Order: sequence, then structure tokens, then C-alpha cells
Amino acid sequence: MQVIILEDPEQVAQHASQWVLELIAKKAKPVLGLATGSTPINLYKKLVKSHQEDQIDFSHVTSFNLDEYHNIDADNAQSYRSFMKENLFDEINIDQKNTYLPTCYQNENPRRQGLAFEEKIQHAGGIDLQILGIGANGHIGFNEPSSSLSSRTRLKTLTQQTLKDNSRLFKADEYQPTMAMTMGISTILDARYVLLMATGKNKAKAVNEMITGALSAKCPASALQLHEHAIVVLDKAAASELTHQEYYIWADKEHQKINQTYGFFL
Ligand code: F6R
Repeated sequence: MQVIILEDPEQVAQHASQWVLELIAKKAKPVLGLATGSTPINLYKKLVKSHQEDQIDFSHVTSFNLDEYHNIDADNAQSYRSFMKENLFDEINIDQKNTYLPTCYQNENPRRQGLAFEEKIQHAGGIDLQILGIGANGHIGFNEPSSSLSSRTRLKTLTQQTLKDNSRLFKADEYQPTMAMTMGISTILDARYVLLMATGKNKAKAVNEMITGALSAKCPASALQLHEHAIVVLDKAAASELTHQEYYIWADKEHQKINQTYGFFL
């Protein structure tokens, strides 16, 4: 894992945006894996700014989101489609026909829907760069603790902790879905590069477990230890419980020289 420790959430977003911008500049048909939640919002703001101020073109980009609530209409304000439209899709020139979320409605078979989503990813040529956040319980996507490390896109029941963590986003009288379709851990590991962002003290324990803990379904994010190109970008608060911080800071300085010369991607 390449662990990058930066000062604050602003720098984390700035760094992540450099990866995305390099990818879309380098590849004729880049495929981005996207996440929702609070963490990537600043990254999306940077991408919108790059489009509006520097005329960065997103028309050739295809995207796949990690997850979507079960049986929620796209135009429901709480759907992840709405989140992505508000924070990114409506603000850049991506062709929204090429933006995919793993939906599943009441009368659809979640297994079929999961398989169809996996096939769409394959058809697009696979995900080049998957953006991830991490739950306080170590989840990635909605792969909650105990998720199979070989899992693929499927329907998951959210844990009480995740429901509590996300309840801040729902009004008191608003229905909060308890199930979601999510890319599986294997689906995420198939991406050519994965970039996980974590900010804030409440992520520090999960971050340490992901990087230095045992590879275990107890902390689904620990599966990234198996990935050839996993980049973890942290602010100081999220890195605060990480052992060997000095090593990561030193190693990152060495990497920076390589990145400046050759770029991030192969
Ligand atoms: C979102 C997702 C989740 C979040 C995680 C962190 O699509 O898949 O795994 O990345 O719950 O959420 P925030 O960023 O709100 O702390």
C-alpha cells in the first residue's frame, strides 16, 4: 500500500484530484469508480472547478458507483444518483448515459441485477481507478464486517452502526433504507488502481486496522492489502492511530520524486 499522510481534508482532496485528472488526460476511454458520502465531496468540488475554470473535458469518461440504496427512485433526494448529480454529474460534461449505479428495485432480482452490473463493468473494459471512502467499522462500499473477501455486486443489509453513522443525512420523518446494492470486495479489487481517502479522527482506528491489521473480514478494507496498486490518502487526524507514520512520510517523499518524473499511472 502507498500511504500518503497530508495536513487536512483539503490537501487530501487536492491529491486525489491529481490522480483523477491524470487518468482522464492519459486514457482515451477512462473508467472511474466513484463513491458517495462526505469524504469525496471536496474531491468532486475540485473536479467541477477543473471543468469550469480549466475546461477539463469529462465527455469521454465512464463511471461506476460503488453502491445504491435498494428500491429507491433515481430522483429521490436520498438516492446516490441524486447525490452524484448534485455533486458532480450535473456540473461537468460527463455523458450521464455512461454513469452507472448498481440499482435494484422492489420487483427486480438482486442477483440478476448484481450480475448485470458486473457485466457492464467488464464491457467498459474494467475500472481504471476506484475512489473509496472507509466506514468507521472498516467497511468499503457497503461491504460491512463479515462480508466475504470474494464478494461481488449484491444486496447487503447495513449494520446498525452504518445506519446510525448515516442517519445524519436523513430528516427525522424521512425513510432511511436499510439495504443497499454494493460492489463486492472482489469487484473493488479488480480495479487497476484503488484510491482510498480518509479524513477525521473517527476513521483513525479503522485506518490503522486496514493498513497494519490482519487481513480479515472483520475489517473489509484490509482486503486492500492484497491489491497491487492501493493508494491510501489520509489527513493527520485519520492517520493519528497509525503505527510507523514516520516511515510512510519518508517513503512518500521518495515516491513524490518518481511521480513527478513518470506520473502516477503505468
Ligand atoms: C459510499 C460508500 C461508503 C463510504 C463510507 C464513508 O459510496 O461506499 O463506504 O465511503 O461509509 O462515508 P463518509 O465519507 O460519509 O464518512
